Amino acid sequence: MILLGGQGTRLRPFTLSRPKSFLPVANVPMIHYQLMLLAKYKVDNVILAISPHCKKYRDFLNIAKNLGIKLSLSCEKYPLGTGGGIKNAFRYLKGDEPFFVFNGDIISDCNLEKMLAFHKSSRSDVSIAVVKVENPKDFGVLVIDEEKRIRQFIEKPEVPVSNLINAGIYIFQPEILDEIPSGREVSVEKETFPYLIRSGKKVYAYIHDGYWMDVGTLDKYRIANFDIMEGKLKIGLNVTNTGKLLTGENVVFEKDVEARGAVIIGDGCHIGKNTVLKDSILFENVKIGKNCLIENSIIGRDVHIECNCEIHDSAIADRCRLRHYTKIKKF
Ligand code: GTP
Repeated sequence: MILLGGQGTRLRPFTLSRPKSFLPVANVPMIHYQLMLLAKYKVDNVILAISPHCKKYRDFLNIAKNLGIKLSLSCEKYPLGTGGGIKNAFRYLKGDEPFFVFNGDIISDCNLEKMLAFHKSSRSDVSIAVVKVENPKDFGVLVIDEEKRIRQFIEKPEVPVSNLINAGIYIFQPEILDEIPSGREVSVEKETFPYLIRSGKKVYAYIHDGYWMDVGTLDKYRIANFDIMEGKLKIGLNVTNTGKLLTGENVVFEKDVEARGAVIIGDGCHIGKNTVLKDSILFENVKIGKNCLIENSIIGRDVHIECNCEIHDSAIADRCRLRHYTKIKKF
């Protein structure tokens, strides 16, 4: 099950025109990385628990089919929260087997086979994949004992009590869904997990030490793009890894274009003469005129930047048009 609700507010302006999981990461919609991970471990039945934009996700039915995955869409009339979304989507799974749940905005190469073996051997009610980070403040922070049983789960604490955080990948025993109330919005992070731990259910932490990125903010989104281009995610991608420059299809470079640092260019882009691109991401069909400098920026789909522009540290929304000599930088 993949959770695809929420507004993606921290990834605005790009989430104003498409859901977070549609945003390109190394020129491939973010959701592909989860589908590819699931396909790698031969998971062939996946449910998308979707809150807004449900119909748009039909685009992924064929992509999943090509990966050997049967995809079902569980649409929520109104947002049910993470817990409500899981409970609502379970009707597509049924049975008494444990099942995986993924947050839709994480990219990871978590070993699902090992995680499932851990879940079974610890006879856990819920297993939560956990990663160690330097700055745990913005995450669900966990305290575990020597057997990796979770003793505390605090969502976004003021003062973190450990540097172990919720990685947004879970295994649920189906019967534990009885503990999630029906008919209202429920957050597993704020409500269900703390409640299960308090009431003595077995909630265990599976420690993941491979690649993991929560692609929730523009900074992390940019890092995830470059990480994947550089081959840091090992799940057998069909992204062409060319090191520091990734170009989509039908990209035109005029004379003396320069790519510095890490640069990702989406399909159908056109880059004018003498333009310099540095540590930036261009979505699809971006047109840039001559003598421009684009640095540390993300340029949305169908943006048109005319000649002699300079853009630093910016996120330019889809379809913007920047006239000649526009400068977006600190003075
Ligand atoms: P921000 O607005 O930037 O915080 O983004 P967000 O709301 O997408 O992120 P958040 O970290 O709150 O959500 C964690 C995961 O749960 C994401 O994969 C969301 O898509 C998903 N999610 C959040 N609310 C819902 C919901 O009501 N229903 C479903 N199905 N999924 C949800």
